[in-house]
Amino acid sequence: MVSLISFYGFRGLKLSRGEGQYVWDSKGKRYLDAHTGHGAAFLGHKPPRVVQALKEQLDAIMVTTPSFMNESMEKCLSVLGKVLPSKLTNVYFQNSGTEAVELALKLAFKATGRREVIAFKGSFHGRTLGSLSVTWNPKYRQGFPVFQMRFGDFNSLEAVDLVDESVAAVIVEPVQGESGVKPSTAEFLRELRRACNEHGAALIFDEVQSGFGRTGRIWAHQSRGVEPDIMTAGKSIGGGFPVSFVAARDWVVEGLRGAEHGSTHGGNPLACAALYGGVETLLEDDVPSRSAKMGAKLMEALKAVESKLVREVRGEGLMIGVELRVDVGPILKDLQSRGLLALRAGRTVLRLLPPYLITEEDVETVAREVEGALLDEQSRRGADQAT
Ligand SMILES: Cc1ncc(COP(=O)(O)O)c(C=O)c1O
Repeated sequence: MVSLISFYGFRGLKLSRGEGQYVWDSKGKRYLDAHTGHGAAFLGHKPPRVVQALKEQLDAIMVTTPSFMNESMEKCLSVLGKVLPSKLTNVYFQNSGTEAVELALKLAFKATGRREVIAFKGSFHGRTLGSLSVTWNPKYRQGFPVFQMRFGDFNSLEAVDLVDESVAAVIVEPVQGESGVKPSTAEFLRELRRACNEHGAALIFDEVQSGFGRTGRIWAHQSRGVEPDIMTAGKSIGGGFPVSFVAARDWVVEGLRGAEHGSTHGGNPLACAALYGGVETLLEDDVPSRSAKMGAKLMEALKAVESKLVREVRGEGLMIGVELRVDVGPILKDLQSRGLLALRAGRTVLRLLPPYLITEEDVETVAREVEGALLDEQSRRGADQAT
C-alpha cells in the first residue's frame, strides 16, 4: 500500500460527492462547504456551465501541446477579454497558483533586468522556490534554499520607501488570505503604484485567492482604483478544475523570447474549457454582486455572534476571517462534526470561504454553528479550569 505524504493535517473525512454549496462524506452525511478546497470551489461544486464545457471538450480533444492553438483556448482568450483589467491584454496559462506566481516573477525579472523583489509580511504566494521566496511565514520557508527578498509591513506607507531602482517587482495580495484575511487599503496600493511608476518596477497583484468575484468585485484590487502591471489568478477560475494564468501589460512581455518559459499542461484544452465555463458563470450569474450581497449578510450574522472568544470579524465579500483569542483547531473540528467545513488562516483565525451560491438559510446555519462551536470551546475551557 502506498501512502500519501502528509503535508496537510488529515481532517478525518473522506468526501464522496459535491453539489452547489454542499459536499457529502462517504457515509452520506451532508456538509455546508465554507472550505471549498482552499477556495477553489467558489463557483460551487459541479458548476453546470463548467461541467458542460468539460464534457464537450472531453469528446473533442484532451491534449494539444503548447505549440498548437486549440479552439478551447481561443474561446477562453476571447471571454477573458470581458473580465480582465483593461491594460492586461497578454495572458499565459498555467496549472496552479504557485506556477502563476513563478511566471509573474520571471516576467518582471526579464522586463526590468533587475533581481530584487519587495513582498509583505503575512504574504502567501505558494510553495515552489520562487513563490516560496516571497512568502512570509518561516513555517513554509525553513530548510529550503529560498532567494533573499525584502519584506515590508503590509498596509504601511513606510514600506513603500523600500521600492527603488534595484527593484524588479513588488508583489502583494489585495486581500491577504493565509495570514488571517486582511484587506489592503486603497491608499497602500495607490502608493505602491506610484512608487513602481517612479522607479520602473512591475507591480504584481496576486489575486489567486481574492480574485474572480470572491470579494464582491471581479478582482479585489478594482475597488481600490489601481491597476497592476501583472496579475495572477487561479483557485476558483476553472470551477474547481486545476488552471491558473498570468495576465500582463504590453511593456512586461515585449522583450520576451521563445523558450524563456513553457508548460506541458499549461493551456490544456480541458483546463481552458473549464475556465471558459467559469467565466460564463461569473458573468451570467453576476457572481461578484451576489458575493457582495451574501458576504455582507454573513459578515453581519457573524458580528452578531456573542462570544468572549471573538476578537474581530473582518474580510471582504465572501472571504471572511473570524479572529479568535484561542487556537482555532478544536473549533474547526467541532464545526466539522456540526456539518460545517471551514479552514484556518494562521493559528487563531477561522477562515470562511463559502461558494457564491450560499443562501440566507446557509448564512444563518454558519452563524448558528460558529456560535455553538465557540460555546463548546468555552465549556471545554471552563471544565479544564475546574479540574
Ligand atoms: C494568494 C495566493 N497565491 C498563491 C497561492 C498558491 O496557489 P496553489 O496552491 O494553487 O499553488 C495561494 C494558495 O493558497 C494563494 O492564496
